[in-house]
Amino acid sequence: MNKRENDNVVAILHPTGELRSAGYLSGFGNEFATEAIEGTLPVGQNSPQRVAYGLYAEQLSGTAFTAPRGENRRSWLYRIRPAAVHGTFSPYRQANASGASLHERFDEAAVSPDQMRWDPLPIPETPVDFVDGLYTMAGNGGSAAQHGVGIHLYAANASMDGRWFYSADGEWLVVPQQGRLVIATELGVLEVMPQEIAVIPRGVRFSVALPDGPSRGYVCENYGAMMRLPDLGPIGANGLANPRDFLTPCAAYEDREGDFELVAKFQGHLWRAGIGHSPLDVVGWHGNYAPYKYDLRRFNTIGSISFDHPDPSIFTVLTAPSDTPGTANMDFAIFPPRWLVAQHTFRPPWFHRNVASEFMGLVHGAYDAKAEGFAPGGCSLHNCMSGHGPDAATFEKASGADLSKPDVITDTMAFMFETRAVLRPTVQAIEAGHRQRDYQACWAGLRKHFDAGN
Ligand SMILES: [Fe+2]
Repeated sequence: MNKRENDNVVAILHPTGELRSAGYLSGFGNEFATEAIEGTLPVGQNSPQRVAYGLYAEQLSGTAFTAPRGENRRSWLYRIRPAAVHGTFSPYRQANASGASLHERFDEAAVSPDQMRWDPLPIPETPVDFVDGLYTMAGNGGSAAQHGVGIHLYAANASMDGRWFYSADGEWLVVPQQGRLVIATELGVLEVMPQEIAVIPRGVRFSVALPDGPSRGYVCENYGAMMRLPDLGPIGANGLANPRDFLTPCAAYEDREGDFELVAKFQGHLWRAGIGHSPLDVVGWHGNYAPYKYDLRRFNTIGSISFDHPDPSIFTVLTAPSDTPGTANMDFAIFPPRWLVAQHTFRPPWFHRNVASEFMGLVHGAYDAKAEGFAPGGCSLHNCMSGHGPDAATFEKASGADLSKPDVITDTMAFMFETRAVLRPTVQAIEAGHRQRDYQACWAGLRKHFDAGN
């Protein structure tokens, strides 16, 4: 029996008066069973001749039918109308004044090995909802091949009203930076605030309400195998992100009819179809393919208590494997508040070049490896073998720090989407007005200290 966890329910205004949270079920990838009306779920079978209350039964599979049991993810939905009921799709163009666009055109520009950084994406001045405010920054692979990622930002100021979205191309890891999100999905409602994340599985339909108005954040669209918790190896059975802190919504539904719209991301393009009812009409469901949220402040951060900064893989929250063991299609890592106690060492992250490629964002506060220029809502890209590390001011400070005392990093939440393949920035990202074209200057002050005689 799954414990219902209501202590984490955030009191959020529902500006459109639509679907409300019915609470959460705790655990990562569990076999959940939840019903908004008692007696909805069939007992002992999935597909009875007639479902209770005149509902339809529908299976939603996130893995191949024959995937090994430990990998197999699917849920059974009991709903007012099957997902097949909607109009014909036609191409959809996002409605916004900025020209921001969600796409998978990662081959339109040659990828420079330059380190890149951007200021926060400006909040729109006219009403723009979550879908119309999506802006693709970079990516690799693609939805056709089912590997790689798309990295998007969103900047929006209006709730989705009478329309719903889904991506058939990948699961969506949403990292809000400014403004809370009420993500009403087919399987229930997630209320997410900055320093929390939400994951929406491939194909699940949802709408996003913005109770705080102007809102901004990051999305990693994972085209590959679904994200999971990393193995812990010698760390043991506990630590990093603990499974019970992941929360999946209890079933909640609406029985609503009208002249509505369904927007789909399918093979890198957006499509729209008319729909005469809310697709959030699932009265009960059971299974292990479902959206979830996680509060990043619950991450049990582990680091060095002797010397030398560990590899940043120690900060992995979720990982999506590739076909090569130990080499992730994508990792989601965070840099949360933590103590620095290591002795006779350089305490910040060291200078490095990696085979992997790193897209960083900042949700809150300041990032410890950069003294300035990396604002909350901003982002940076350090691709395969592009050198990077602390800026000159951070290096000087850490090189002279008093290591006899512990130091504490507070009031911060940075994160990284790391991928095995090079992240190719889109043309709109390369040419963006908010790109910092002088980013490399942050390392220009690293002076020569070498003295062969000393
Ligand atoms: Fe790095």
